[in-house]
Amino acid sequence: MCGIFGCILKEGNAAPLIHASLKRLEYRGYDSVGIATLNDNKIQLKKDQGKIDEVHRILNLDDLPGTIGIGHTRWATHGAPLKVNAHPHSDCTSEIIAVHNGIIENFIELKSELQNLGHIFASKTDTEIIPHLIEESMKTNPSLSFAEAVQETIKRLEGSYALAVMSTREPDKIVCARNESPLVLGVNGNGVFCASDIPAFLPITNKAVMINNGELVILSPNGYEIKKIKDSTPVNREPETIEWTPEMAVKQGYPHFMIKEIHEQPQTLRNTLRMQDNYLDLITTFLDRASEVFMVACGTSYHACLAASYMFSKLAFLPTYPVYASEFVEQHGKSVNIDSTILAVSQSGETADTLAAVTCAQQRAATILGLTNVIGSTLTRVSRVYIGTQSGPEIGVAATKTFTSQLSVLAQLALRLSKKRGKISQDEMDCLEEKLLQLPDTVDTIVRTQEEKVKQIAKKYKDSKVFFFLGRGISTATAFEGRLKLMEIAYIPSIAFPAGESKHGPISLVENGFPVVFICPKDDSHKTLIGNIMEMKARGAHIIAVIEEGDEQIKALADDYIEVPKGIPSVLSPIPFAVPLQLLAYYVALEKNYNPDMPRNLAKSVTVK
Ligand code: AGP
Repeated sequence: MCGIFGCILKEGNAAPLIHASLKRLEYRGYDSVGIATLNDNKIQLKKDQGKIDEVHRILNLDDLPGTIGIGHTRWATHGAPLKVNAHPHSDCTSEIIAVHNGIIENFIELKSELQNLGHIFASKTDTEIIPHLIEESMKTNPSLSFAEAVQETIKRLEGSYALAVMSTREPDKIVCARNESPLVLGVNGNGVFCASDIPAFLPITNKAVMINNGELVILSPNGYEIKKIKDSTPVNREPETIEWTPEMAVKQGYPHFMIKEIHEQPQTLRNTLRMQDNYLDLITTFLDRASEVFMVACGTSYHACLAASYMFSKLAFLPTYPVYASEFVEQHGKSVNIDSTILAVSQSGETADTLAAVTCAQQRAATILGLTNVIGSTLTRVSRVYIGTQSGPEIGVAATKTFTSQLSVLAQLALRLSKKRGKISQDEMDCLEEKLLQLPDTVDTIVRTQEEKVKQIAKKYKDSKVFFFLGRGISTATAFEGRLKLMEIAYIPSIAFPAGESKHGPISLVENGFPVVFICPKDDSHKTLIGNIMEMKARGAHIIAVIEEGDEQIKALADDYIEVPKGIPSVLSPIPFAVPLQLLAYYVALEKNYNPDMPRNLAKSVTVK
């Protein structure tokens, strides 16, 4: 997730406005920043790695001439956060310059096509192909207008984009376009603006024009013109008045970042499904030849590893060992060796316990693989190979969208390893890949249809003194994650363990009205789980079941239930089944008047041991 901004002013310099607008988009990404303006038919450019304030202190981002310009604040997905990869990016002639938010899935083949035509690239980004494609289009077809060349270029892009492009050939225009990544226009008496999000221009205008997927916009001093990319059909759309305060706008109207990020999961899951094959294949190769694999993480990331251990075992017959990072050195520090592989999972890439475990393993010559949401974090620098979850910054302290993104990437790795090892049939493979692609829509359905029910359940149980979270098989990981969410933001003591363990002790805690959350996908454990539910009911527990829609057996036993769409393979079930638990924790916290974004005693990244 990155932030883009563009403006054409009747009066005044564009650069200071772009700088201020990028600051208001900084929550979307902040590892590098750049601004380009057009003045006297020349592009003026300043960009560098680092947060906006750091780069401004060194380069003075306001000091660029011109009334028209574009800018970008980056969250790296392709290419480390270095100056060379910072946006804006230009073509060979430096006459065309672009900023982009999204993921171009087919950039590798387009890049090699352009390189064969003689185009020289400076960066490792997917974005840089856009100005070069436009350059090539205008070269091979000089009769095209700038906007038409941009339109032709966009038709060749696969993936998500919100982009803004300028050219010295038509220096009074900005052409922008959208597919999946958000894009919105702002208008006022002094100019017209395009941005990734409303906060960018809300302090200077509350008149906004929403841009839809498949639309291209031509900004000029006279205003804006919208048309459909596929056939140039004009689109008439008047500005609407935004009633949000700037503070609300940064959360896109949601009351908290946590609920915004829970609702973002369909999009972030789509982004994780746009992983570059070469990154996934490289990690798969290392896993395939590993003699032992430790998955090392903390908190929610550990729960992703726990779920992944079932995925790797069931799909690829690869035994893996999820280990709490804080325990790794004590538990395995002496035995880890050159034949060991460590898959370290960390949203922030900076968790001290995880990095300490990695350092210990590295000192004993183990191979380090990294999975993180922050490209350029310490974990990416110490890993032999790493992969990003492409979830965009997660502001809420409680991990939500980054958890389901981690699971999606780990599931893709397990599938690839299974394919490489020939461990499951082609039909099973096709089915799992199809179900993985369906998950964004599945999660979207859950959020849309179950949120109200979860609110009621949260109201009903908000005063409970303790919760159980139980599951069997891979759902044990989901239960652990549900427990952590409720503990960390609603401060209710919660206990999670494999449902089969209840009779070995924990069931002694159960008394009348005791809430027990069961995670109940329709998998091999379903029948046994019903027995576990019965043993809890017999002792007066109140059963809250997360079930597949239409599971009449468990509906009849549960006091309350939340339904997720049916047909989800067990190995993928933690992704959709975690969402109701995220919502439950959030709404219980609200019922208790806690701020879910800033839970007491916790930090987003625990950089101390
Ligand atoms: C999860 O909601 C918590 N914020 C916490 O447990 C977190 O998962 C843990 O600190 C690990 O963080 P990391 O993924 O950045 O390494």
